[in-house]
Amino acid sequence: MAILDKHKLLEKNVTLLAVFAFLAVTVGGIVQIVPLFYLDNTIEDVEGMRPYTPLEMAGREIYLREGCYVCHSQMIRPMRDEVERYGHYSLAAESKYDHPFQWGSKRTGPDLARVGGRYSDEWHVDHLRDPQAVVPESVMPKYGYLEAKLIDGKYIGDLMATNALVGVPYTSDMIEQAKADFAAQADPDADYDGLLERYGDKVNIRNFDGAPGVSEADALIAYLQMLGTLVDFSTFTPDASR
Ligand code: HEC
Repeated sequence: MAILDKHKLLEKNVTLLAVFAFLAVTVGGIVQIVPLFYLDNTIEDVEGMRPYTPLEMAGREIYLREGCYVCHSQMIRPMRDEVERYGHYSLAAESKYDHPFQWGSKRTGPDLARVGGRYSDEWHVDHLRDPQAVVPESVMPKYGYLEAKLIDGKYIGDLMATNALVGVPYTSDMIEQAKADFAAQADPDADYDGLLERYGDKVNIRNFDGAPGVSEADALIAYLQMLGTLVDFSTFTPDASR
């Protein structure tokens, strides 16, 4: 065929081949890249997302420090087996306040994106203390020492201010009250009205580890119990334009 004969010309002439390859890549590149300049938002907002409370934020720091992400992902993929096991697939907006995000792909243990509310606080205390006492075949390490380490949220306001710098909508009021809110969330006898006013009513206020004082376990469990609970999926419908 004539067109194939012409193609032979390209195959035999390396300069011509380079020119045409360059053209092909350029057109492909433009088609893919240019539309991105016309998007004003890559994340579809979803109702319910709020910045983490100071105590949750502290728990997230412990989660990072202890390397929980080495064995646990926080991203449910939109595949049937995952959705049936873990719940609604993860939305980009659900990790928009995460710096850095905790998606991951390594799952020695289960995905934790929606672990909030799945177990009681006592379950978490027992499980962190001795995972094998709860799940005999577990390979998860023991984290009982978190209960013994009391923390006061001294630096949590600074961390929130840093997150505000990269776009997390912490107000100056939230940052100023960080230490008070930090303590109030783990103490149901405290005055936590301000905390609820600042973060909305989807904040768990409890003595998470059941022991006096705010321990690292309190913060970590507050974080775990919040994961995946902010967006109400019984009312969620994806934007039809996408
Ligand atoms: C060496 C890998 C490993 C590390 C590190 C690890 N885990 Fe796990 N985790 C597992 C495994 C395996 C399971 C499943 C068995 C079990 O429940 O213990 C699990 C289960 C869990 C569960 C229960 C999840 C569910 O849906 O049943 C939670 C919650 C959890 N881990 C939290 C943590 C936290 C928090 C940390 C960090 C402080 C952590 N894990 C660190 C391996 C790990």
